Amino acid sequence: MPNVVVVGTQWGDEGKGKVVDVLSRHVGAVVRFQGGNNAGHTLVVGGEQVILHLLPSGVLRSGCVNVIGNGVVVDPRVLLDEIDALERRGQPVGPGQLVLSVGAHVIMPYHLVLDRLREEAKGHRRIGTTCRGIGPTYEDKVARRGIVVADLLDPARLAERVEEILPEKNRMITEWFGGDALDAGQIVADYTAMGQRLAGYAGDTVGLLHRLQREGRGILFEGAQGTFLDVDHGTYPFVTSSNTVAGAACAGTGVGPTAIQEVVGIAKAYTTRVGSGPFPTEAHGDMGERLRVSGGEFGATTGRPRRCGWFDAALVRQAVRINGITRLALTKLDVLSGLDAIPVCVGYDGQGDAFPATLDEARPVFEELPGWKADIRGCRSLDELPAECLRYVARLEELVGVPVELVSVGPGREETIVRGDLFTR
Ligand code: IMP
Repeated sequence: MPNVVVVGTQWGDEGKGKVVDVLSRHVGAVVRFQGGNNAGHTLVVGGEQVILHLLPSGVLRSGCVNVIGNGVVVDPRVLLDEIDALERRGQPVGPGQLVLSVGAHVIMPYHLVLDRLREEAKGHRRIGTTCRGIGPTYEDKVARRGIVVADLLDPARLAERVEEILPEKNRMITEWFGGDALDAGQIVADYTAMGQRLAGYAGDTVGLLHRLQREGRGILFEGAQGTFLDVDHGTYPFVTSSNTVAGAACAGTGVGPTAIQEVVGIAKAYTTRVGSGPFPTEAHGDMGERLRVSGGEFGATTGRPRRCGWFDAALVRQAVRINGITRLALTKLDVLSGLDAIPVCVGYDGQGDAFPATLDEARPVFEELPGWKADIRGCRSLDELPAECLRYVARLEELVGVPVELVSVGPGREETIVRGDLFTR
């Protein structure tokens, strides 16, 4: 199995979990490399739904090591809650099954408070963050005043770091935003206790990944969010605070670019976005509502209704370039069944093959493709799909320029059509 990066090609929520699930059967490790518990991934365990935000998706596969790389920001409370929830369901996560980088940055209580206060202060200009402290934690990482997992394991060091950092945070919280100051002693006590519980999982993830590579075990790098939420390549400032593109898998885990052989891009058969920011193909009114309801488009992390619209080939084409995508997986195709005609954006007016520096003014040029009436959830090969549906897939493939090698036709694990050697091995 080659080493593979899986990334979202739109604004997140493309259904990466299902593709990671198919691929994780063949790999030695599933690795998160960026983001934090702003992500959400729904699993079904013993008939019950579990939503994971931080644990990598291989956590339910025996023999698969799950790694939280140095590029991730970790809320220890959320991580422990997820471990406990799986244990309660009879799926304990042993230390050999999960390894947490000692270099990953920790989301502290003041990060959560500041994320919320800043959003509230922005009013109608807010970004629509998940309020999980993600942005403030990455800010502190870059400003060299962050706290890393290794600090949690050393109470004296943690106390020293908190005492150094907290006065400035408290001043900001109380004097700038009018909030309540946090107590250093309480933070040190709570985080030391969580550090003790996490100690068995913390380790040298760089060494581990290089050992797995020497042993020839495949590694799956599981991206969170999507290409257009990337802090460099996304619709800035309406983005998340990490690099979500495939290249971030290297910096966020400590492997070199030559270690990666395949990049799988996940694209929804239409487009969604949570939070604020430009969305050229957004469908307002009844059509947007129709997609939201049939696609169950409500955020897994915040429960917010997602904005919905049509497939944007210009966007996904740009994602293919930025990520070096070699294969595409198309998800939620079944949601489009029953429509008479389906608009697809083939480019932006006046842009030719170029991608505009900002999407604020982008005017999509639509082409209408015929819809199909039949329910496609039972289809297990492309030739079982209605002719119009097959034509839709072929047209997207042509517009984007990369083969579609997996098509998801329903939420169930088996409601998947695979072609291409990566998915069928
Ligand atoms: P943050 O990552 O919480 O700072 O939020 C920044 C932006 O990214 C907001 O628009 C969020 O809605 C969006 N966002 C963050 N994580 C996800 C995700 O996993 N799926 C979709 N949108 C996300």
